[in-house]
Amino acid sequence: MNMILLGPPGAGKGTQAVNIVEKYDVPHISTGDIFRENIKNGTELGKKAQEYMNRGELVPDELVCEIATDRLSREDCAEGFLLDGFPRTVFQAEKLDEFLTANGKKVDAVINLEVEKEELITRLTGRRVCRKCGASFHVVNIPPKTEGVCDYCGGELYQRDDDTVETAENRISVYDTQTKPLVDYYTKAGCIVNIDGATGLENVFADIVTALGEK
Ligand code: AP5
Ligand code: MG
Repeated sequence: MNMILLGPPGAGKGTQAVNIVEKYDVPHISTGDIFRENIKNGTELGKKAQEYMNRGELVPDELVCEIATDRLSREDCAEGFLLDGFPRTVFQAEKLDEFLTANGKKVDAVINLEVEKEELITRLTGRRVCRKCGASFHVVNIPPKTEGVCDYCGGELYQRDDDTVETAENRISVYDTQTKPLVDYYTKAGCIVNIDGATGLENVFADIVTALGEK
C-alpha cells in the first residue's frame, strides 16, 4: 500500500508512523528525518536545509522532490511505503503523482490527522525525541519512564531546535497557507481519510486501521 501521512506539525505523524509501518510492513519515509540526519552529519544538503527548518519555513520544492523521489526509487519501496511530511505543497504532490504514474503506481491512501492549533503548540513545545532511535515522547502526554532517557533504546532525549513557541507558530501558519490545500487535492483524488488526531494514541491508531483496513 502506498500511503501518505498528512497533518500539521505536531499532529502525531511521526508517532503514528511507528505503528503503521510495523502493521503494514512498509518503509517509513520522513523528509524531516532525512534533513535532520543530514544536518547531524554536516552534509551540504543539511547545511542548505537547516536555515529553512530553523525558521519554520519549507525547504525549496526542487530540493525536497529530488530527495523524496530518490528515496522512493529504492528497492524497499517496491511493495509500498509510508510518506511522512511529504508532499507539503501542491507542486510536490504533482511531482509525486508524475513520479508514481511513470512507475505504474499511485497513491492509495492519504491519512489526514486533524488537531486544533492550541493542542499542536502544547505538543510541539513539550516534545522530546531520542537522539539514537528517533522515538518521540512528550513531557506530559507521553512521558518516558526515566526523565531524559528513551524507553526503547536508552538513548538521550533532546528537544528539536524548531520546537520553540515562535518557530512552532510559524510552522503552523506555513502549514495553513502551503500544505492545507493538499486536503482538497487528495479529497478530489478520492483517496483521503480524515482522522481525529486528538483522541489519544491508541484510539488514533485504531481509527487509522479501521480506515485503511487490515493488511
Ligand atoms: P517535520 O520533521 O516533518 O516536522 P513537522 O511536519 O513540523 O511535524 P512534526 O514532526 O513536528 O510533528 P508530527 O506530526 O510528526 O508529530 P509527532 O508525532 O512528533 O519537518 C520539519 C521541517 O523540515 C519543516 O518545518 C521543513 O522546514 C522541513 N521539511 C520537511 N519535509 C518537507 C517538505 N516535504 N517540504 C519542505 N520542507 C520540508 O508528535 C508531536 C508531539 O505530540 C510528541 O511529543 C508526541 O509524543 C505527542 N503526541 C503525538 N500523538 C499524540 C496524541 N494522540 N495525544 C497526545 N500527544 C501526542
Ligand atoms: Mg514528525
